[in-house]
Amino acid sequence: MLTREKSIQGVLFSSEEIQTRVRDLGQQISTDYANLENPLILIGILNGSFVLCADLMRQITIPVEIHFMSVSSYGSGTESTGIVRIDKDLRVDITGRDVLIVEDIVDTGLTLSYLRELFADRQPKSLEICAFLDKPETRQKPVEVRYIGFSIPNEFVVGYGLDYNHYFRELPYIAILKSEVYQG
Ligand code: XMP
Ligand code: MG
Repeated sequence: MLTREKSIQGVLFSSEEIQTRVRDLGQQISTDYANLENPLILIGILNGSFVLCADLMRQITIPVEIHFMSVSSYGSGTESTGIVRIDKDLRVDITGRDVLIVEDIVDTGLTLSYLRELFADRQPKSLEICAFLDKPETRQKPVEVRYIGFSIPNEFVVGYGLDYNHYFRELPYIAILKSEVYQG
């Protein structure tokens, strides 16, 4: 059993810093998508983005819908495998709609490039990505991300929806995991 005391190296972003940034993103999105004919469709990528989705949606002041899709790109560890498996697909037709993918973090870029292509095939009116965290150093595949919360160094982070083997999603802050936790 992992505890916070044993596993967390330090806080990267406090709950207050996160909320301020999410408010700014919500305002920016509301401005950019003002005057749409239909509600903006947010697609939350489970599981990591569920906390962000709940907060972001409540900071958006234009009509908005939320739908979720579940993918896994990792095994149970901390290294990207490059294989994206769809565990639960969308149940909404996005053809002709304005779509914003909401993801917790962009690391290698493999997951989001895959999802961008997948959704583009379904012919939305517009397609953009919001990723709360960005690790630019580890990118393997370039992907255009319109909204980024914070860029971070190449550390494994947990909290605010992000997990290590299902641990620590509940943390209200974003923290760096001690490397000895995943290096054994
Ligand atoms: P790629 O590499 O495809 O990965 O851009 C995106 C997915 O990898 C997971 N990921 C992390 N999860 N802390 C986490 O809890 C991290 O530091 C981290 N880096 C990547 C995440 O699931 C994301 O959706
Ligand atoms: Mg994820």
